[in-house]
Amino acid sequence: VSAVTEQWRQGGRLVTGWDVIIKNPVISIPYGWVVYGTDARRTYRSIRAVGQFPDGSRVLDVPCGGGVAFRALRPDRPLRYVAADVSPVMLARAREEAAARKLDWIELCEADVEALPFDDDEFDHCVTYWGLHCFPDPALAVREMTRVLRPGGELRGNTVVKGAPHQNALIALWQRLGIFEAVHDREALRGWLVDAGLEQVSVDRSGAIAFFSGRKPEG
Ligand SMILES: C[S@@+](CC[C@H](N)C(=O)[O-])C[C@H]1O[C@@H](n2cnc3c(N)ncnc32)[C@H](O)[C@@H]1O
Repeated sequence: VSAVTEQWRQGGRLVTGWDVIIKNPVISIPYGWVVYGTDARRTYRSIRAVGQFPDGSRVLDVPCGGGVAFRALRPDRPLRYVAADVSPVMLARAREEAAARKLDWIELCEADVEALPFDDDEFDHCVTYWGLHCFPDPALAVREMTRVLRPGGELRGNTVVKGAPHQNALIALWQRLGIFEAVHDREALRGWLVDAGLEQVSVDRSGAIAFFSGRKPEG
């Protein structure tokens, strides 16, 4: 297990601090501008689309962290929603978030994204927000997330990529503190998505954050 994965698993202050930031737009919006040159509201807009998946959709949210994406869900519109993360500390926060929102149908699962405990073709959607830059082998993670999607299923999310020099300096700080793995550029990200076999790949950069999506080919 990499030192970064271990730090996320253990869930110290840096780790839980992230969850506090991302769940509070009053903090995350200025933080997003200053640190990544991005508009954090774009992340919330992207997350809101999770609430529009058709009834009964099977959704994998990995890494779910403390459950920031749960804000898109409604108690009376159950999906099969599996929220997976390697960190028991983050999963405990996700459990609290689900309870507070009365989303008792969410399934929480401790799992490593690079070896997902799910069958091929099990989900209609996989969402992965702020995750790939925390994984030791993001290309493998993308292949795993693609494997568990059904043909025609969609992967979407965002991740930190190389940005302007001052953003890269802050990224290097997060790496020194052991919460980020290597950070790549947008072209590398596109390569992982294409190499995993996804089609209709889109990668759009906003500051040092890339938003991406792709679809598993039908049949
Ligand atoms: C920056 S947080 C993002 C979490 C959430 N998606 C969000 O937007 O708040 C990164 C998450 O990745 C998880 N993580 C790190 N390595 C992982 C791995 N190998 N497999 C699954 N989750 C992992 C961490 O525990 C943490 O919850």
